[in-house]
Amino acid sequence: MKKVCSLIWLTFIAISYFCRGLQSVSEIPNFPLNNGKKIPSIGYGTWMANGQDLENALEVALEDGYRYIDTAFLYGNEKVVGKVLNRWITDGKLKREDLYILTKLPPSGNRPEGVSKYLKKSLENLQLDYVDMYLIHVPFAFNEIGDNLFPFHSNKTINMDSSTDLKAIWKEMEKQVDAGLTKGIGLSNYNETQIKKVLEYSRIKPCTLQIELHPYLQQNKLVEFCKKNEILVIAYSPLGSPGLTKFFENFQKKIDRPDILGDSTLKAIAAKYSKTTAQVLLRFFTQNGIVPIPKSTNPSRIKMNIEIFDFQLNDQEMNEIKALDKGQRLLNFSELFDGIDKHPEYPFKSQ
Ligand SMILES: NC(=O)c1ccc[n+]([C@@H]2O[C@H](COP(=O)([O-])OP(=O)(O)OC[C@H]3O[C@@H](n4cnc5c(N)ncnc54)[C@H](OP(=O)(O)O)[C@@H]3O)[C@@H](O)[C@H]2O)c1
Repeated sequence: MKKVCSLIWLTFIAISYFCRGLQSVSEIPNFPLNNGKKIPSIGYGTWMANGQDLENALEVALEDGYRYIDTAFLYGNEKVVGKVLNRWITDGKLKREDLYILTKLPPSGNRPEGVSKYLKKSLENLQLDYVDMYLIHVPFAFNEIGDNLFPFHSNKTINMDSSTDLKAIWKEMEKQVDAGLTKGIGLSNYNETQIKKVLEYSRIKPCTLQIELHPYLQQNKLVEFCKKNEILVIAYSPLGSPGLTKFFENFQKKIDRPDILGDSTLKAIAAKYSKTTAQVLLRFFTQNGIVPIPKSTNPSRIKMNIEIFDFQLNDQEMNEIKALDKGQRLLNFSELFDGIDKHPEYPFKSQ
């Protein structure tokens, strides 16, 4: 009798897991990409998260229905991501094709021979045969000095490689699609002029552009340009990156970061829907065809951040949020990497 009871109980758990999996996946709408694939309309950001914190947070995120995980070789956390993904796949809770995994070529590997080398390292870390999207993290490059991801000179300037040939790098990116190591390729932190050139010489078009986007930096011209050219935009730091101040402190730097989540316009809209300002912002992006990738290691915030598909902002509210744009960039890399604004491919020269 005891045996039968536990068998029934185990079957019940298995069925509810299965149903939960189906329900979560179908709850999140996807956006189409120019490579014929689809990307979930919200992702889970992993920058500044690592170790047990990230492992626990990823478990929660996958339970809550996140399927797009955003990582990068530079974040130093791919092995943790890989460990959790591998557990979910081997336990049969998810299939590889249910997941959308994006990682990025680091600045110290940003040269033609670095593309295949670093993608292979990422795949090994992630315990995967392919990623869904591989991005060039930044258009500038650092010299590769051992395993040092942030090579500084003794005078604290960054040890940059000025010989960057973005066309040659893109040609290598295309070969990774041919080799089946990534389903799609894209860009991050490129400006419009740089993207136009890629479009001219590309055999495989960039599918996505990942850029800093929040209400105080909306980059409308660049977003419109991407939409016209069927490049899907991914919004990084969509909540205004509250953790950035602490990150800068690691580099002995101070920044003056605005409290975007405390903005009174956003608070008023949030109150109307009984939502948080973070949820309003994330909804704002998905409603505009942009994929936000909020990072959180807090279980209740992870859950809240994805609960954005049960309300809709009206035109007036969308316009009120659009009116908050001040062109205020939080991360221009030159505060972090002294001297990088002298790199020939530094993307934010005119700003
Ligand atoms: N391509 C690039 O160059 C680039 C650059 C930056 C970021 N990214 C990607 O974009 C992702 C997101 O950007 P981000 O991490 O800079 O900034 P973000 O997602 O705008 O903000 C993350 C911060 O907000 C807090 N937070 C999360 N949800 C919240 C909520 N509902 N209410 C209040 N606070 C909340 C988090 O703290 P808790 O963890 O304590 O909740 C964390 O400190 C990154 O993780 C990374 O994957 C890419």
